[in-house]
Amino acid sequence: MTLDELGASLRDCQRCRLASKRTQVVFGIGNPNASILFIGEAPGFHEDKQGEPFVGAVGKLLTELLESAGLSRNDVYIANVIKCRPPDNRDPMPDEIETCKPFLMQQIELINPRVICTLGNFAIRTMLGKQVSITKIRGQQFEVQGFHVFPMLHPAAALHQGSFRALIQEDFQKLKIFLDNLPRPTSKSAEQMGLFG
Ligand code: URA
Repeated sequence: MTLDELGASLRDCQRCRLASKRTQVVFGIGNPNASILFIGEAPGFHEDKQGEPFVGAVGKLLTELLESAGLSRNDVYIANVIKCRPPDNRDPMPDEIETCKPFLMQQIELINPRVICTLGNFAIRTMLGKQVSITKIRGQQFEVQGFHVFPMLHPAAALHQGSFRALIQEDFQKLKIFLDNLPRPTSKSAEQMGLFG
């Protein structure tokens, strides 16, 4: 199965209660061969309307943060833990995450990134299967099923609480250093990785 085929197979997903209120499933966007995958929480109002993760004000901030780490949106792939907007932007419920998780895992398998950057609590908890706190573990690195997992604060936190902006900028600078120090890839070509100029 390709990433496009997986996305198409979810277009009419009715597996959970979110199906009845969403405008559309927001599967993900970016380079299907990306070496870096960003995982957010869930589509919000604008994402639900446009069908793309991280648009609107949070998306603009994410684009700026990516650029600060020498990355563009075209280099990376961006997805969310759950693919449909929770009504009124409430938190995803545990059963919604469990229902959607296999599709996130399939996305990861198909993209096969070297680094997975999780944004906020929900994404890192989903990846680690533990109730960790992002403010405590941001900046550490984890290995999950052979992938480097790099937990970062969620950019929406900076919009809600100005004091978080510097911390998020710090997370992206740490990511840049981490990527600069990754050993050269062996299994994917350096060109495909897009990391080595
Ligand atoms: N937009 C997304 O697509 N995901 C988030 O987690 C927040 C905003």
